[in-house]
Amino acid sequence: MKKLVFIEANTSGSGMLAFEKARQLNIEPIFFTNNPTRYKGLQEKHVQTVICNTNSLDELQNKILPYLEGNDLLGITTTSEFYIYTIARLNEYFHLEGNSSFTISNVRNKAKMRELLNNYDFLYCPDFFVIEDEEDLTSIKNELKLPCIVKPVDDSGSSLVLKCNSYGEICQHIKHIKSSPYNSRGQKKDSSILIEEFIEGEEYSIECLSYKMQHHIIGITKKIVDNEPYFVEVGHYFPAQLENWTKQLIEQSIIQILNLIEWQFGPSHIEFKIKAKKLCIIEFNGRLAGGMIPEIIKYATSLDLLQEQIKIVCGVPPTPEVKVKQVAAIRHLAPQKSGKICLSFPERGLQNIAAVKIFIKNDIFIPKATNAYGRIGYLIATGSNYQEVKTKLDEGEKALKICIKENAF
Ligand SMILES: Nc1ncnc2c1ncn2[C@@H]1O[C@H](COP(=O)(O)OP(=O)(O)OP(=O)(O)O)[C@@H](O)[C@H]1O
Ligand SMILES: [Mg+2]
Repeated sequence: MKKLVFIEANTSGSGMLAFEKARQLNIEPIFFTNNPTRYKGLQEKHVQTVICNTNSLDELQNKILPYLEGNDLLGITTTSEFYIYTIARLNEYFHLEGNSSFTISNVRNKAKMRELLNNYDFLYCPDFFVIEDEEDLTSIKNELKLPCIVKPVDDSGSSLVLKCNSYGEICQHIKHIKSSPYNSRGQKKDSSILIEEFIEGEEYSIECLSYKMQHHIIGITKKIVDNEPYFVEVGHYFPAQLENWTKQLIEQSIIQILNLIEWQFGPSHIEFKIKAKKLCIIEFNGRLAGGMIPEIIKYATSLDLLQEQIKIVCGVPPTPEVKVKQVAAIRHLAPQKSGKICLSFPERGLQNIAAVKIFIKNDIFIPKATNAYGRIGYLIATGSNYQEVKTKLDEGEKALKICIKENAF
């Protein structure tokens, strides 16, 4: 049987689902991880699991080598952003098709991407500074405009992304970022910090699939963000309601960016705003969208993006037919303050909700969500238009009767 190696996975659901998708294509997944207990539901998948140091390229090369015998290995992939550079290096080592490690090192670093895309007229390029520590701040102090965004260059899930309204807040946040040199996967973070112009306005993402530099645009998603001064993604609507000229501008600009950075293979998820009638990139992600966006796209169009990703790794060009049947949206539940949470699963009130999931137990202390990992559940709804879907989500959320007791601990 043909095999596909997965190096680690995301923990938001699609990671474990990817194994099923591979099997549906008659491909046996082999999962490499340094910590199987990180993944809820892994045991039930009965996947051959190799435990090793997935942060060591040498170790991975040695452990993968035996699987190359017999020509059964179709490819190496991941559903986690933290390993796409590792995948590129492994593909180069084993002479497998994939994006170059040069391209991936650019897209994994927000400062490099800002520098790379800075001089193109078709884009709105925000002011930005790349600094190493607090001392570097003094030299740019007079140039800083407030409010601004301060963020690590290579983290994910909105971790440590903060809107700062004063010089003092910037200093404090830089110290905070510097206090955790490793990411959630035990990888050493890049030491640079990005300070950039705060871009006002609505935020969107675009989902694309590429194969040998042929790019397919899947669609545009409207993003809802909350919990200032943090940026927790609390909602996604697909497809976004946009005028034709905006849609065209977005699609043309995105194709140019994909070509510029030599993005050859696989999914990409690009977050952006529109400023001065130009596209302003917030972030380029060389992976499928998180936050269950692929799931709402499936509700809206029937297209299975995760399966498309697996096909691409296995050398099958994607033929995504995007026919929008309905609007679909997700509402993530993100506590806006810390406290003991209680909620109920009512008998009535959720009849218009397509899916609901709560990750927490009742009556336990939950901190205010400051990033994607602090969310406690979600609701999905579908309908014929944006307003109908929003109303269903509002009613569904209300029916859960979520309350946060601030002083109950
Ligand atoms: N320059 C900016 N102007 C306005 N908002 C911004 C800016 N940079 C980041 N944000 C907000 O912060 C959010 C998180 O930032 P960013 O995407 O860079 O972090 P991330 O950790 O890689 O996110 P994720 O992995 O969740 O996509 C963005 O989606 C956006 O809402
Ligand atoms: Mg982002």
